[in-house]
Amino acid sequence: MRSGKEKGYRILIDDIEIHPYYDLVAAVGRKGSGKSFLAKVTTQLTPRVVVVDPNHEYKKLDDETVFLKDVTQLRKHVSSNFFNNRKEYQVVVQHNELNETILFYICEQIKKYCTDTLLVVEELGRYDSLRTHTENPFKNLVDFGRHKGIGIFATARRIVDIPPYMRNSLDTLFAFPTANELDVKLIDSYFSSDVMIELKRLYKSNPEKYMHYFAYNNMNEKIKIHPTLRF
Ligand SMILES: Nc1ncnc2c1ncn2[C@@H]1O[C@H](COP(=O)(O)OP(=O)(O)OP(=O)(O)O)[C@@H](O)[C@H]1O
Ligand SMILES: [Mg+2]
Repeated sequence: MRSGKEKGYRILIDDIEIHPYYDLVAAVGRKGSGKSFLAKVTTQLTPRVVVVDPNHEYKKLDDETVFLKDVTQLRKHVSSNFFNNRKEYQVVVQHNELNETILFYICEQIKKYCTDTLLVVEELGRYDSLRTHTENPFKNLVDFGRHKGIGIFATARRIVDIPPYMRNSLDTLFAFPTANELDVKLIDSYFSSDVMIELKRLYKSNPEKYMHYFAYNNMNEKIKIHPTLRF
């Protein structure tokens, strides 16, 4: 089975390298700050993706895109992709009542049938018990997905919406402008002071104008901070 960073597929967003079939990536920030936009760009650069899309905002990329309203069809799609060794597919789950049970089911199917696949979970904050459940299929993917070539890209309004077990092992965090400075302080409590001085400076300098993000890899090594003009 192919997996891991060395052999893995890699993409560049600006000059930030992401291994979509290996890394844990999160984008946090207030509504409209650009998290989903970035997640969509990431899916366009990644050949094999499963997207959990509660707001039905993902569009057909190409003929390989399948939209699922009925989550029980997921197994059929991911297992046939797996057995046919397809190089490209994009499965978008647009269930009307996405809840934890459904998310957990999706994670189980991915763990079972997928390899070299990026799981995108939009709005992680809507699944309350992800934070409190110590054992669940999502955590299982966070902990062991990389061994099967499965990476995760999650979006959430606030850093606290990313459960601690994911937050602590993130490879890259994209921090867009937050709803208030309390969130900057919260991020501050998790990460190194050098990053935060720069993030606070950017945030204060012009919170509306810039889409701020910083990224860190491997627990604060290779830190990069970019102010990017909204285009
Ligand atoms: N870099 C960008 N260039 C152009 N348009 C952008 C960019 N980032 C975001 N947008 C646009 O801004 C709008 C809001 O962005 P987006 O949907 O990504 O926000 P969000 O952070 O996911 O918000 P929410 O928390 O409400 O889901 C979208 O219409 C999107 O197309
Ligand atoms: Mg969004």
